[in-house]
Amino acid sequence: MVKVLVSCAIGFLIAANVPVNQPSLQAAETTHSTATVEAAVPSPADLGIQFVKDSTSIVMMERNGKEYIVDLVDRTVREAGGPEGPRTKTERGQPAAAAFGPQKDDGSRVFAHSCASCHGADGKGVAGRNTPNFTDSRFQASLTDEQIFDAVMNGKPGTEMPAWRDKLSEQDIKAVASYVRSLGAPRHPGAGQAPAAQSAEATKPKVYEPGDDVLFSLPTGRRLDRHGFYTDFAHRFAFDPAFSGTARGGALIGLDGFAIPSFGFRYGFTNKLSGSVFRAPSIIARPIQFMLAYNLADEHDGYPLNAVFRVSIEGQNDFAKNYTENFEGIFSRSIKSRAQIYVVPTLSLNDRKLVEINSYRSQDIPDLPGYNAFSLGVGGALDIRPTVALVAEVIPTLVNGRPLGIHRPAYSFGIQKKIWRHAFTFGFTNSPGTTVSQRAGTRASLLNDPTADKPGGLFVGFDLMRQIH
Ligand code: HEC
Repeated sequence: MVKVLVSCAIGFLIAANVPVNQPSLQAAETTHSTATVEAAVPSPADLGIQFVKDSTSIVMMERNGKEYIVDLVDRTVREAGGPEGPRTKTERGQPAAAAFGPQKDDGSRVFAHSCASCHGADGKGVAGRNTPNFTDSRFQASLTDEQIFDAVMNGKPGTEMPAWRDKLSEQDIKAVASYVRSLGAPRHPGAGQAPAAQSAEATKPKVYEPGDDVLFSLPTGRRLDRHGFYTDFAHRFAFDPAFSGTARGGALIGLDGFAIPSFGFRYGFTNKLSGSVFRAPSIIARPIQFMLAYNLADEHDGYPLNAVFRVSIEGQNDFAKNYTENFEGIFSRSIKSRAQIYVVPTLSLNDRKLVEINSYRSQDIPDLPGYNAFSLGVGGALDIRPTVALVAEVIPTLVNGRPLGIHRPAYSFGIQKKIWRHAFTFGFTNSPGTTVSQRAGTRASLLNDPTADKPGGLFVGFDLMRQIH
């Protein structure tokens, strides 16, 4: 039936030499919808039509001794082996049908026709549709070939990603799945990329893609998806040094110790403006932090650096008292697409000393005096593999560190695994804090021991970031 319809449609095309319009298509359908009528239709060969193996979008047609390629997706007719030639890389003069053998070419056609509207012609995603960037190694690393095939076959329930099992042949699904996979491969000329996409690739600025909103505690200022919803978890095992003391191996370098866990949510109102809520636990005075962040400049838009401005307010005892107001600038710059450096000047008004509170009672959270403090965070991220980065940061408090019990700069270093919408960072640090004002504090102020932020006091921690939507 499909074949008959296709040949009918083409018959009309040839006869009328105009685009097929609705009434004639309907007429074709009613006339040829029974088996008896079907028998009366000449065979494709009689009509000079030849179907192309494994292709649902292309037929060969012979007219006046010449062979033409009819592309139903592009709605174009080309002469086979003519001056334009088939668009694939095979030599002209070969039987034209053989030119459409490779799956990748079919895959790119199916993609252009069925997927590009939501995934972008280049497969890089469409911000408003919340689709992934198929050329991003983090996306590629997050799915196996089977999972890509399965997503296309069955769709993603609860999202806009439709199931294609009833709309495309299994051949086409395989072809388009392998095309999606091929988008992650390093570009080389003719690798199934449209010429326009290739030149865009060449002129595109080389920009580093941070895996997370933070290096370890220092913000990266990375842009969020518009309407993207994210969660961040941070654990700091500040009471058990990783390397000093006895039986560190047995205690899993502190990982089986007591953790200081914080968590929060971020939301992208637009791809420039985002807001977040973050809470740290009772043992460090349970501050809740509300924040607004605005991306002033982004390397992706051709600026020489990324610049972000953030304002936030922290209030201890679940935002009931002891407020601290923070103003941060986040400046970063990519070194090719492999690394990025960060400078984060931070002003905290009414910053409070980071102290340990051994109680859940609200009245045990002390009302310590506030100091206006200024810190200058500096950090870097370096990809050692496409989805693995080394991260390091140091956050010296340049103004009013002493009254806050900070004797040495807070610093951290770690290793980060970044996959699509997900990052995990494991590292070592001397800072138990993860809110803006607390991240500059150290273990020395927490334990009230001036030596506790020396290298011997380094402890383990990890961050987990997940894009929920
Ligand atoms: C109506 C819009 C739309 C169309 C058309 C569409 N997709 Fe999607 N696709 C989406 C959205 C939205 C997502 C993200 C789903 C999510 O949030 O997990 C997605 C996700 C995917 C994923 C990732 C799946 C995963 O498990 O993370 C693959 C692979 C994919 N699409 C392939 C395709 C292919 C191939 C086609 C064409 C045959 C196609 N899509 C057509 C909207 C679409």
